[in-house]
Amino acid sequence: MESSMDRRMFMTASLAALTGFGLGGLIRGGAALAQTGVDLPALPYALAGLEPYLTEETIDFRYGMHHAGYVRKVNKALEGHRLEGSSLEVMIRESWGKEELKGIFNNAAQVFNHTFYWNSMKPRGGGRPQGSLAKRMDRDFGGYEAFREAFVEAANSVFGSGWVWLVEDGEKLRIVKTANADNPLTQGRKPLLTIDLWEHAYYLDYQNRRGEYIDAFVDHLVNWEFASANLG
Ligand SMILES: [Fe+2]
Repeated sequence: MESSMDRRMFMTASLAALTGFGLGGLIRGGAALAQTGVDLPALPYALAGLEPYLTEETIDFRYGMHHAGYVRKVNKALEGHRLEGSSLEVMIRESWGKEELKGIFNNAAQVFNHTFYWNSMKPRGGGRPQGSLAKRMDRDFGGYEAFREAFVEAANSVFGSGWVWLVEDGEKLRIVKTANADNPLTQGRKPLLTIDLWEHAYYLDYQNRRGEYIDAFVDHLVNWEFASANLG
């Protein structure tokens, strides 16, 4: 089994190759600037910022290996393609459902999904939303408690890899599940908040206790200011 030091050195080398910056500069220095194409955005908090609910090791691994890997793969898939230089949203909408563009779709969507997920959390988050989002939640779900129950139930019922989202669907708030890399943009819905339910999202910290990860997300990590800012 490789040591965490080996893994860390490998990760640093991979990221440096990807971005032209060392890992320290990447994490501390703001957005990672790729030469062209899709960037790996900076995390909105420190790697250990979500402890004890998600450990530094988990965030380090998922951001530094998985998220960075999707950035690297989408840039590779885009080389010389007409979608190179488009926004992620355009890439996702235009590649969706096209077998020959699957490499672009899967990796572009996973970059979008992970960036959206990092922003859906914050240190000392969780609890109830405020303002117009709270009012919309009352109208469309019958209150925060009913929303919480429906969101947790949706997350617990995802089979295999996927995501659960709070979305704005026209005028209405809804909870939707998506499988693998899929996301609400492909259904013309506006994402407000998401939770990653791929096994890599929680396995290091929670093993098979996915329900505890979901509860921790809702009660201690959700960034309602981000969700509110996404409301139309
Ligand atoms: Fe993930």
